[in-house]
Amino acid sequence: PVESCRRGDKVTDKLVECSDPNRSFPCPPQMRIPIVDFVPEGAVKRVRRPAHLLDREYQEKYKEAVGKMRALPESNPLSFAAQAAVHEAYCDGHYRYDPTEKNRAFDVHFSWIFAPWHRMYIYFYERALGQLIGDDTFALPYWNWDAPGGMGIPAIFKDSFANPLYDPYRDQTHRDALIDLDYIHSPEDVPPIPFVRTPATAAAYDEAVQKNLCTIYQQQIRGGKGPRAYLGEKLCSEASFRVKEINERSRRRQDGQKIKPNPSASQGTLERMAHTAVHVWVGRPSPKDGCTLNDGAVMGHDGKPHCGNDMGFLGSAGRDPLFYSHHANVDRMWHLWSTKLGGAGFDDPEWLDASFVFYDDVEKPRLVRMKFRDVLEAKNLGYTYDEESEKALPWFNSKP
Ligand code: C2O
Repeated sequence: PVESCRRGDKVTDKLVECSDPNRSFPCPPQMRIPIVDFVPEGAVKRVRRPAHLLDREYQEKYKEAVGKMRALPESNPLSFAAQAAVHEAYCDGHYRYDPTEKNRAFDVHFSWIFAPWHRMYIYFYERALGQLIGDDTFALPYWNWDAPGGMGIPAIFKDSFANPLYDPYRDQTHRDALIDLDYIHSPEDVPPIPFVRTPATAAAYDEAVQKNLCTIYQQQIRGGKGPRAYLGEKLCSEASFRVKEINERSRRRQDGQKIKPNPSASQGTLERMAHTAVHVWVGRPSPKDGCTLNDGAVMGHDGKPHCGNDMGFLGSAGRDPLFYSHHANVDRMWHLWSTKLGGAGFDDPEWLDASFVFYDDVEKPRLVRMKFRDVLEAKNLGYTYDEESEKALPWFNSKP
């Protein structure tokens, strides 16, 4: 549920409830329970670590937790299906602004809402995972795509349906490839470079790694000066509406399922650069009309052939467990920007006091209201990132 959208200086009415009769995917469960205000966690208990460096025990914990989350009934707001639906609802037109305003779709992307909303969202996801395995120190592993060792899909997300972290709706040609953090701007016909560096690929590999590091440098340092450049424009600015309209139109056209490289004037570099490239790079392009196992569909967890593209399309991205570790690294980028790189958020009360409500607690769901000012520091939320993550950032001096 969304509390309100602030437009200019006016607070508009509450958003219209999630609904979209033409979609088969459910809206997040709506429970009529009282809302409580978020209380900061008293201590830092959870340390997020790179997904490719987890020890065996931690890998098993992560798999077990997501497996248990998948097993919860969809009516539980902290089930995996409901969590994916929450993301979908917030970016695929299920919530509307004031219906008199051309019935515009509300979206947590393309504006200054992006960073804090996603921080909140994965915070509750992380807590639910910990609760499911009875370990309140469990922290969401992050996909460390800004370091050479993490520039490919981490092994724990691969393989087969027996693995709860696996998702079939990915681009199989990228399964063992080196990621391209500027994928949206790269020519389409260049074959991917293998993630494992060999003498034969060394030159191309080294060049691609350098290019990735420069992209992060550009995102975090050179292009990310000040909150508007880094976090994005104010919600409801004309620029953010324009982008959303373009996005809606391309969604309706359904011509391919890629997130289009929009002229996204309203996105900050945090959202527009590596974040978007990773989505599109992981997602699986799907055929235009229908599909069968013959034209490359895969068997889904539901036992039906599927030609979906989870990560590459914002509406379905939350159905891939990789999404949450991807966003843990996006969150870490923001954390590094605010701690190590001296970046400061907006001081506009409209941003600081903007709030959202999330479900918490797998067993006895409650609704928690969080303001952006509550989430400016990770420690308020009881987590941090491993120390290595703060030291020697490989892109720190990667000036293009
Ligand atoms: Cu809500 Cu990476 O998107």
